[in-house]
Amino acid sequence: MVCTVVAGAFWGDEGKGKIISYLAVKDKVDVCVRTGSVNAAHTVYLRGTRYALHAVPSAFVYDKSRLFVAPGANIHVSQLLKEIRETCVENRICVDRQASIIEPRHSNADKSESHFKDIGTTGWGVGPAVQERARRSAKLARDVPDLKPFLADASYETNKAIDEGKTVVLEGTQGLMLSLFHGSYPYVTSRDTSASAICSEAGVGPTRVDKVLVVYKAFITRVGAGDLPSELSREEALRRGWFETAAGTGRDRRSAPFNFDLARKVATIHGATETAVTKLDILYPSCKNATTYTKLPEEAKDFIARIETATALPVTLIGTGPGVSDIIDRRRAT
Ligand code: IMP
Ligand code: MG
Repeated sequence: MVCTVVAGAFWGDEGKGKIISYLAVKDKVDVCVRTGSVNAAHTVYLRGTRYALHAVPSAFVYDKSRLFVAPGANIHVSQLLKEIRETCVENRICVDRQASIIEPRHSNADKSESHFKDIGTTGWGVGPAVQERARRSAKLARDVPDLKPFLADASYETNKAIDEGKTVVLEGTQGLMLSLFHGSYPYVTSRDTSASAICSEAGVGPTRVDKVLVVYKAFITRVGAGDLPSELSREEALRRGWFETAAGTGRDRRSAPFNFDLARKVATIHGATETAVTKLDILYPSCKNATTYTKLPEEAKDFIARIETATALPVTLIGTGPGVSDIIDRRRAT
């Protein structure tokens, strides 16, 4: 019934995977399109198993969801094929012919060149692969024999699904502060991560989108180099229970308190229509596993209200634990 873009707020790792996997089952998402690349890991739980997905769309948890890899995406072929096997989605995943390919030399350059080390990239080779694509010498999905069984025109299929009134999710990666255009350049990823760019990568025009759901986490984390306003020491992060390690690379995540001014800026550039806030239980442990807003402690409700005031948008989904059902869904109430 609706086309929703799900986009990250700050420096990624807000829990987009959890939110999308919830929507997939709850809203019976017909089509989910993954944009971006293998540098992002989206964590999804299904029947007690944890998946850190670098390539397969997070809606895989709903077995009727058709999955697409966007024309604007960059594919790490062996990682994609491995995840397709692990998630058993062979019969319902398609890859756009125009998606570009990360080759071993791209990953080698990303890991060895001091410029990329200084930025603190994930080392998957996404930046060098994007350089090659812009040079117009990249290998595309249509050139890879192993991808033949999965090839499709993903933007055509996605637009057709929208025409037919299906429920569609465009899955963004990273967060706006890692955007090549809007983030903390040069300490950013190699693409724009805004909601508009997510549409562009999927081949869906801005007029066809109904909702832009921006996912915030109750505190901020960042991996790699670059400024992080009000950054906490590792000790303080540990004391508060905010210390995390990256789902993909295993690196330590740096952390900082929620930034309300930045939240407003991010919502504006994304053109957000609503927001989600994850990990509220880390800030307020008594919220753990809560599914009803009215039962939250006052201080937690105040925090949510402050985000709503800062962004002038409703917080419609609130994460209260890692499980897919640890969520407060206020969409009907708001
Ligand atoms: P690259 O995207 O691997 O080139 O890395 C550039 C910057 O973006 C580094 O600071 C990475 O840590 C960061 N980055 C890339 N992908 C993610 C992600 O999915 N979550 C968090 N940080 C990311
Ligand atoms: Mg992540």
